[in-house]
Amino acid sequence: MIMIAAVLASTMSAGAAAPRSPTAFPQRATAFADKPAIAVGVSWYPEQWPEDRWDKDLAMMKATGFNTVRMAEFAWSRMEPEEGRFDFAWLDRAIAAARAHGMMVVLGTPTAAPPAWLTQKYPDVLRVDEDGTRAGHGARRQFSFASQRYRDFCRQIATEMAKRYGHNPAVVGWQIDNEVGPPSFDAESVGAWHAFLKARYGTIDELNRRWATQYWSQYYNDFDQVPLHATGQQNPALLLDFKHFTTVMWTDYIQNEATALRQAIDPRMFVTTNTMFWNAGFDHFRMHRDLDIAAWDNYIPDGRPDWVANGANHDLVRGYKQRNFWLMETQPGRVDWVPVNRALDPGQVREMAWQAIGHGADAVLYWQWRPAANGQETYHGAILGQDGEFNPIQPEIARTAAELNKAAPLLADTQPIARVAMLFSYDSRWAIDLQRHNRDFDPVKAFTEFYRPLRTQSQGVAILPVDADLSRYPLVVAPDLNVLTANEAQALARYVRAGGHLVLGPRSGMKDDANALWPQRQPGPLADLLGATVEQYYALDQSVEITGSVAGKAAIWAETLAPTASDVRTLASYRDTGGWLDGKPAIVSRNVGRGSITYVGAWLDTAAMAKLAAMLLADAKITPIVDGADPDIEIAERGGAGKRLLIAINHGKVAQSFVLPAGAVPVSGDWADGRLAAHGVALFTLRGDRK
Ligand code: GLA
Ligand code: GLA
Repeated sequence: MIMIAAVLASTMSAGAAAPRSPTAFPQRATAFADKPAIAVGVSWYPEQWPEDRWDKDLAMMKATGFNTVRMAEFAWSRMEPEEGRFDFAWLDRAIAAARAHGMMVVLGTPTAAPPAWLTQKYPDVLRVDEDGTRAGHGARRQFSFASQRYRDFCRQIATEMAKRYGHNPAVVGWQIDNEVGPPSFDAESVGAWHAFLKARYGTIDELNRRWATQYWSQYYNDFDQVPLHATGQQNPALLLDFKHFTTVMWTDYIQNEATALRQAIDPRMFVTTNTMFWNAGFDHFRMHRDLDIAAWDNYIPDGRPDWVANGANHDLVRGYKQRNFWLMETQPGRVDWVPVNRALDPGQVREMAWQAIGHGADAVLYWQWRPAANGQETYHGAILGQDGEFNPIQPEIARTAAELNKAAPLLADTQPIARVAMLFSYDSRWAIDLQRHNRDFDPVKAFTEFYRPLRTQSQGVAILPVDADLSRYPLVVAPDLNVLTANEAQALARYVRAGGHLVLGPRSGMKDDANALWPQRQPGPLADLLGATVEQYYALDQSVEITGSVAGKAAIWAETLAPTASDVRTLASYRDTGGWLDGKPAIVSRNVGRGSITYVGAWLDTAAMAKLAAMLLADAKITPIVDGADPDIEIAERGGAGKRLLIAINHGKVAQSFVLPAGAVPVSGDWADGRLAAHGVALFTLRGDRK
């Protein structure tokens, strides 16, 4: 049975902020005390190669400095060549060979790639697109996330693997499926959708009320009448609930396998799944609640890293569980799935590995070891070429691996240090994306533009869900908190009264979690606390000047603010002669209790955003570790277990000098004579606590 009601009850019933259960899983790469604290390795597909090559592959991995190999994902047709006939002998030997070379093994369940016999005999398991097209064999992810039959097969293969390898001394963790995402619109999905809506709203009257279905005669007599849609001119309530539905479905799909694995595996083995980028398919905070760690696949598709934006990705992934994560895949140079698959420059693969570590990765695994002779990804970056010998990227990866292996005892049990928190809300992102009002209002871009100066000026940002415990952070910034529930608003108000500095960006506090307008003007349930409301919002097609303590320009979006309390301060106003915005407040702030709340009503340009960040950080008394570093220099701190470490990365093409904090001692890397080399990386130990 698909556990819709159970998942929903712990997820989002009536907007209640369910407490996040702390997990007992240790804060390090693996829970096995005798294994390395930092995993460095690669995806290897032994099923694609003759067995007499395996030993050479593993010896070459060892020579590269790898201590971890990830395997078995996608190998379903090899593990179960016919229905019910399992063949694990080859995998027994592959794992044994890896172990003989001292490798840790991560096993993937193969359910992203169902075998042909399965979908041929049971075509009802196949995914159906929104336009009614049924998927077929030959690619991957062709299954329906709602198919009970498919889940039964998934549970069975996961159970067989867990029984066989759940206590294998080489195996340290499990990855369920691979980058889950595409939803399905088959008959079972429609049935699950109706069950979901019933569990969420209880009665059809309640759904009609929350969705405002008197609009365009949308009124429903019964849940069975509600169409399943992800796109098109549908009610925004339906479209947002579609995302809630996919969250429940994918969470439950993953848990189906997690439960099967956990019945037979050593509890020190982690259970995770690998995710991608800013995937909008489901709420990743919810999905990870019942997994041990987060793991993600970091690619720089065009080979031109924007280090700050990429760092935000890492921080978001760390936020899924507020604990260190695995970088399950990253590119040995290039990908093969964008129009121009440019390779990273020499030095940048190493840079990106250290960036991941600086943001809380306890593992760096490359995808992949060697390109298959055929198959869809023959052009992708790999450590080996088609001749089975090293590619030119190998020495750089070997150097990185050697450094990480050496640094592992220092990095063990440390976590990134952040004093600024940013709130990311999937509901808000979806709600804005569904009704951008200005096509250029990309919610991820809006988030990243707030993140950029906060990260470069504070050198440590945590990205958290709205219901996280914020008490450790003197400054909390929510760039576009469009959907805000009453419970969330109350928690944020408590944070402010207790001394926190809360900053809301444009479009905040407009909707409830059914995507309905709050009956009061923005920021809705926080309007009283702010002592001001948004009088009107405007999409901009050209920029408008802003004056005051945060001077610069606004573009894309502008809201005029109207103070309702006498102690509200206006930090910036618009200058828009002859326009609606002229003279109106753009940014307001108010001290409340021991803290403050600030509302930023405009999409600010880079200069204004930098000024705003400087002001907010100063108010919250947050200072950087390294002052005045060049914008190409990334500084990150990890601390814990009585240690403090500083990681410095030069993402630029020229050497940079900067002043280290007193007591910093270089451990490894490219620091010499007060300078960090071009594309250089350096690790330092620090003394004392950060001020
Ligand atoms: C048309 C329709 C209205 C409304 C407006 C909005 O005129 O008749 O129902 O949708 O557009 O501009
Ligand atoms: C994803 C997948 C891998 C592979 C890589 C290629 O991350 O998980 O199987 O396809 O992309 O970049």
